[in-house]
Amino acid sequence: MRLTNKISNFDELFTLYESVGLGNGRTKDDLIKVFSTSKYIISYYDKSNNLIGVGRAFGDELDCAVICDIAVSKKEQGKGIGTKILNSLVKMVEHHMRVLLYAEPGKESFYKNNNFHLMKTAMMTSSKLPLELGRSIGFIE
Ligand SMILES: CC(C)(COP(=O)(O)OP(=O)(O)OC[C@H]1O[C@@H](n2cnc3c(N)ncnc32)[C@H](O)[C@@H]1OP(=O)(O)O)[C@@H](O)C(=O)NCCC(=O)NCCS
Repeated sequence: MRLTNKISNFDELFTLYESVGLGNGRTKDDLIKVFSTSKYIISYYDKSNNLIGVGRAFGDELDCAVICDIAVSKKEQGKGIGTKILNSLVKMVEHHMRVLLYAEPGKESFYKNNNFHLMKTAMMTSSKLPLELGRSIGFIE
């Protein structure tokens, strides 16, 4: 097992996200874009150098950082890899006053177990995500 701070193969990353339902309609170029603008990246490789886990974060270096896109390949889930990725990212952005994320609906306990707390006043607006879609996937009220 090996932890690194970059993505060497975006085809592999695209396949990983698609396989765990975190593609969210994004193309490989979309992933290149969001990872290239994320200062903090964790990628986790197995002994055969296959990408089995990933996550990224970005921030303003003082007030707020956002953690996103944590995923572990299906056959490697439940072995503590996601927790390692999350904790590594938290450590990288711990100089921020607040570290924020939004969980995929149903994944809240993973983050609660790792010292994240539900926010009472978290809100979002979007000109890209139709409200009805946001509601149907359980993101917004
Ligand atoms: C959410 C996700 C990243 C968690 O990754 P993971 O590697 O399975 O997470 P962990 O193994 O660290 O923790 C998961 C559970 O396994 C348990 N676990 C940790 N180490 C373990 C071990 N060695 N043996 C058995 N169980 C273990 C943890 O206690 C945890 O239990 P919980 O479900 O009660 O919280 C992963 O399930 C995933 O990729 N899901 C699909 C994509 C997704 O939804 N990502 C989240 C976006 S918000």
